[in-house]
Amino acid sequence: MKGVLLAGGTGSRLRPITHTGPKQLLPVANKPVLEYAVEDLKDAGITDIGVVLGHKGREAIQELLGDGSEYGVDITYIVQGNPLGLAHAAGCARDFVGDDDFVMYLGDNILNEGITDLVESFETGDYGAGIALQEVDNPQQFGIADVDDAGNVTELIEKPDHPPTNLALIGMYVFSSDVFDAIERLEPSWRGELEITDAIQLLLDDGHEIDSHVVTGWWKDTGKPEDILEANRLVLEDTTLERNGTVEEGAETNGRIGLAESAVIEDGAVVRGPVSIAEDTTIKSGTYVGPYTSIGANSTLEGIHIENSVVIGDSSLTASGRIVDSLLGRSASVESADELLPEGRRLVVGENSQLKL
Ligand code: DAU
Repeated sequence: MKGVLLAGGTGSRLRPITHTGPKQLLPVANKPVLEYAVEDLKDAGITDIGVVLGHKGREAIQELLGDGSEYGVDITYIVQGNPLGLAHAAGCARDFVGDDDFVMYLGDNILNEGITDLVESFETGDYGAGIALQEVDNPQQFGIADVDDAGNVTELIEKPDHPPTNLALIGMYVFSSDVFDAIERLEPSWRGELEITDAIQLLLDDGHEIDSHVVTGWWKDTGKPEDILEANRLVLEDTTLERNGTVEEGAETNGRIGLAESAVIEDGAVVRGPVSIAEDTTIKSGTYVGPYTSIGANSTLEGIHIENSVVIGDSSLTASGRIVDSLLGRSASVESADELLPEGRRLVVGENSQLKL
């Protein structure tokens, strides 16, 4: 069994954060989303992994994953170029996969229970594909499966206007190499993409059985800023957080706090977990860091109150205001204005930014 990890696409719903880098590298609890996928593949015994790259952030992804040896896997890079659809991306991996079965993992998805059950279930039968499903509240935004009374998959539709069920295809699939012939026969969908959902429907039409597996633990497609915040909350809730850095006497800390070795919580700061603070970051006196917050590396916080937020890193947050439910891009700075007049907020805001004042 091989792994195909999709790391292309445009990340348009995460602008401006994705103007400068790929969405798959956004950090959740101070770890890039893509790393969770590599770990899930490895935990399922899959170490031969093809990473499909688009135009955006190729070098950054290659720099992070390298040849895979740091993660105990072997990585081959495959260039897709323009994002012509998930089935097109899978098709680009045909030579890499050969006649093997493979897991296709969407690099911006994150799942708490891993993919071992999905892979094992696929291996017990003679299936064309194995899909993972979860009930969602907004089925129009996903690939949806219809199932009969016995739970067998009868139809798959990408982002339907009138969904027959609320069972969404989540971002991990297992395929036999038969899927490549189905992909060759696909026509672009209404959104101009070759849809993997349509390729699975073709496998079904060809008489292949489709294994389906309902995932009960949490799963998140981190396509939008609020999804990153929610994934960050879910991961901080679930993971072990190690306190390796310095907590000065006089600092008030409670709950679980992940503190990198070179990070410092100074005298007079208050930190309430679950929180993750990365290397070379200092939380200074008068600062409050509240639950479900991750602060990236090389940042300074002084006097600010922040909670339920993700700060990507290299940031200086020294204003005396309150920040909640926020995603701050790399090198963002939030400082107090020196000038008293004219009164008002002074902003330098990038294209596609969203502010709620
Ligand atoms: O998250 C689950 C959903 O993922 C499924 O329910 C849908 O059936 C499936 O089509 C997909 O929908 P999205 O519209 O959310 O997919 P998105 O365009 O966000 O792409 C998912 C990942 O694949 C993302 O990491 C970018 C990458 N990608 C995407 C495209 C279109 C590529 O590598 N190449 C591509 O051409």
